[in-house]
Order: sequence, then C-alpha cells, then structure tokens
Amino acid sequence: MVDDPQTTPPAADGGARPRVGAKARRVPDPVMHAAAGAHAEEPAGTHTEASAQPPEPTNVAVDPTGALSAGTDAGASSQPQAPANTAVDGEVDPHSAADAEDVPEAYARFDRFPGYVQLQRRMAVAHRLGLPVPFFTPHHGVAGARTVVAGRTCINFSSYNYLGLCGHAAVSAAAHAAIDTYGTSVSASRLVAGERPLHQELEAALAAQIGAPAALALVSGHATNVTTIGQLFGARDLVLTDAAVHNSVRQGAQLSGAHWLTFPHNDWQALDDLLRRERRRHERALVAIEAVYSMDGDIADLPRFIEVKKRHRAFLMVDEAHSLGVIGATGGGAGEHFSVPRDDVDIWMGTLSKTFASCGGFIAGCEALIYYLRYAAPGFVFSVGMSPPDAAAALAALRQMQAEPERVARLQARSRLFLDLARQRGLDTGRSGGSAIVPVIVRNSMKTLALAQQLLESGLHVSPILHPGVTEREARLRFFLSCDHSEDDIRTAVQTTADLLARL
Ligand SMILES: Cc1ncc(COP(=O)(O)O)c(C=O)c1O
Repeated sequence: MVDDPQTTPPAADGGARPRVGAKARRVPDPVMHAAAGAHAEEPAGTHTEASAQPPEPTNVAVDPTGALSAGTDAGASSQPQAPANTAVDGEVDPHSAADAEDVPEAYARFDRFPGYVQLQRRMAVAHRLGLPVPFFTPHHGVAGARTVVAGRTCINFSSYNYLGLCGHAAVSAAAHAAIDTYGTSVSASRLVAGERPLHQELEAALAAQIGAPAALALVSGHATNVTTIGQLFGARDLVLTDAAVHNSVRQGAQLSGAHWLTFPHNDWQALDDLLRRERRRHERALVAIEAVYSMDGDIADLPRFIEVKKRHRAFLMVDEAHSLGVIGATGGGAGEHFSVPRDDVDIWMGTLSKTFASCGGFIAGCEALIYYLRYAAPGFVFSVGMSPPDAAAALAALRQMQAEPERVARLQARSRLFLDLARQRGLDTGRSGGSAIVPVIVRNSMKTLALAQQLLESGLHVSPILHPGVTEREARLRFFLSCDHSEDDIRTAVQTTADLLARL
C-alpha cells in the first residue's frame, strides 16, 4: 500500500540520512557564480558549500539570457534582527506589544527585493541607450527555421526545434488525437491518480532509444534535474559538477545538501584529482556533465569521464538536452556518438522540449533507479503527470526522428556549414564544434544587444547572452541550428552577422 503522496512523502531511504539541516542552509547561487567567471577558469574545488562565500548576490532570477540581474540575498547576508518581542528560543512573546514594527519595510515588499531593484536599473540603462529589450519576444506561429516576429517573417536561430518536429504534421496530429481521447490534462500525480497508456509507451520508447532498461518522464526538464539529484543525494554524499553545467543541475546539487564541488569545464583530469582527494570522505558520489554544453556548443569527452567515474566508484549523470537528435549518426546522442556501452552512464537525462517538440524531461537508467524515482522523486510524486498532448507529441517526435534519420544528417551538415563559414569570416565561435549550437562571441554586452537588434531588423532572430548570464568578456549571440535551415539561410546569417559586427 502506497501512502498518499499529498500527505505522506514515501520514505526516501528509511530516514537514515539527516538531510533537513543540510537543505536549510543557503548556498551562493551557482548561476551567478558561473556568471562571475566560474567557467573554465574556475579552479577545481573552489565551489564548495563551506568555502568562502563569493560576494555575489544569491537570490538571483534564473538568467540563461543574462538579461536578468540579481541582488544581495537578504536571507543570507543581512538577516533582519529578531524582533524585540521574540524570545530567545524563537517563540513570540504574547505579552509584548511591539510585534514587527522594527522589521524594515523593505523586507515585506517585492518591489524592494534587491534583485528586482537591480533588474529595473539594468532595464533603464538599455532604455536610455535606445535598445529595445530583446526578451519575451512574441512569435506568431510555429518557431522553426522561420518565425514571425512583429508581423515579419525572420530566419530563426533562437529556438531548439533542432529537427523541425515542433509543427510537424504527424506530431501535431498525435497531440490532437491524445486530447480527443484523454483531454488536455491528467489532473493529478500519476502515482495516486493513475497514468495513461501514453506515459508507458513514451517511457518504453525513451528507454529503448537511450539503450537503458527503464525511463521515467516528468513534466519539466529543469525539474527533472532538480528533483532527481535532490532526491538521490544527501548530506553524506559528494556531488561534482562541470563548471559550465546547466542551472537545473546546480539547483539539484544545492537542494541535495551534498558536499558540492565544481571542476573546470570538461577537465576530466581535474575531476580525477578532486575525486582522489575527496571520494573517501563521502558515501555516494555523483559526477554530472552535459553531453553538449548549451552555452558553448562543445561536446564532453564522455569516454574519459566514464573512465574516471569507474576508477572512483562514482555515479555518472549525463544531461542530453542538446545532444539527443543532434549528435550520433541517427541522433542517438552521446552514447551513439562515442559508441559507449549505455550502462557505463548511470543516469541519462534528457528534455522533451527541444528535439522532441514537447514539454518535459526524463531520466533513463537501470530498473532500481527508475523504480525508486517513481515512488520517491518529489518532482514526480507530488506533481501532475505529463499532459496527454505533451506525452503524445514527444512520442510522435521520437518516432519521427527514428523514421527520418535524414533530418539528423541534415542538421549535422547545416551545423558544420555554419561553423566553417563563421570561422572563415573570422567570427569567434569559442569552443563550439560538432553540435547544433554555435556562439558568436562579441565580448561586450551592449554591442551584443545592438547586434541582435540590427540582425532582427535584417530579418534574423538570434538570442543575445549578456552579462551576468556570462562574464562581460563572454557576451555573445547564440545560434541554434535546425535541419530546416537552408544553406542559403546559413550563408545569409553568417554574412550579415560578420558585416554588422565589423561596423559596430
Ligand atoms: C542542459 C539543459 N538541461 C536542462 C534544461 C531544462 O530543460 P527544459 O527547458 O525542457 O525544462 C535545459 C534547458 O534549456 C538545458 O539546456
């Protein structure tokens, strides 16, 4: 008999690990840590819970674009003094009349949150410089290789519709059919209220695609990382993340309360050293990497990471958000690309929002892992199941990818063409290579913003990534390629970008 997850969380591990205290502690926001230059330059092992707190703010809005700012964390850095009517043990003294009058008003207003105030300041600077805010742009219609912005059709490089499957007739038809059969929502947690055959079909298909015994699909890719890492690891464990890893992995590491260290980007030797030093002080150890890094478009050296993790009896988690459908001869991701035995990776993670034209995330791995997460991961147990149209769309997109490997081949050819042409024109494409993400590094936020605006006026939609999302010297445009881009689209994009940049 399973407890009602609405009231009784299933015991994680028999209640053996003292996790509450660890999780209550505030840790500097890793996004800002990375934004402050913690990518490849960050010395191994500097990012620990216990090490000196960086002065950066900690209550940061998630800022993949760098658009959003942050403020000092009132909770961590400047705790209000206990009000006068608070007894030593924290109980409110009912005889005191002072109540909370001495609590500064700023602590009770959202418009005084330091992060909000800084954000407003940044927006005001952009406004003064006459630069429109390039975020939350409304797209009218499917955003694929083309999109309609402000009534104008643009060549679109800002969507992760890698294989052009969002908007594909078969995918849309599957979503429509699922709505007709099941409606638009499953309305509750699958654990309590039951699932639909679509969930099981999707998970079986994902597991087969990855080459793992089982898979579990959740409603958000971000939540998948947070809840999986947060549930599996605890205060006695060690979590090691690549310095460039996605915010969701960092949030999971933070939530877990494990001893958390970062290693320099893609540096498996530094990881090896860290594990040699730290491994024996902890019970379980997790190494978390991405197969393709979303900011730079470079590919992790998976076989090396496998070697290292085996040497130290650690778990390896690989986030395939930007590699499924993109690398590997048939889009099978890092496992196929490197021809590694699939069970050499302990936790395969993927999103359903990119190649798979839907919304959600999944974990694939051994039976025990998936069984445990199905009963214990809070982001699954206490959250609604994937909606029928989302599950159906992801399943149809996966089948379409498998039926049309030429989409993958075309995406790979277009991505190579973009990179070759960009390099020929002297654009700084950083570490990009072999994926469908190509940055053009401008090294100045305001110039990047101006370039994005000029490109839009020229009919090209590209996302700018600004400080503090990256360091000022790493400010960039980020191009996402799609198999539906024509060679002409790519020539136009590279030429226009290089010409405009030269004039800035
Ligand atoms: C590497 C990586 N992991 C996880 C996620 C979260 O996935 P989702 O956007 O589907 O929630 C993203 C999102 O872009 C990502 O880039």
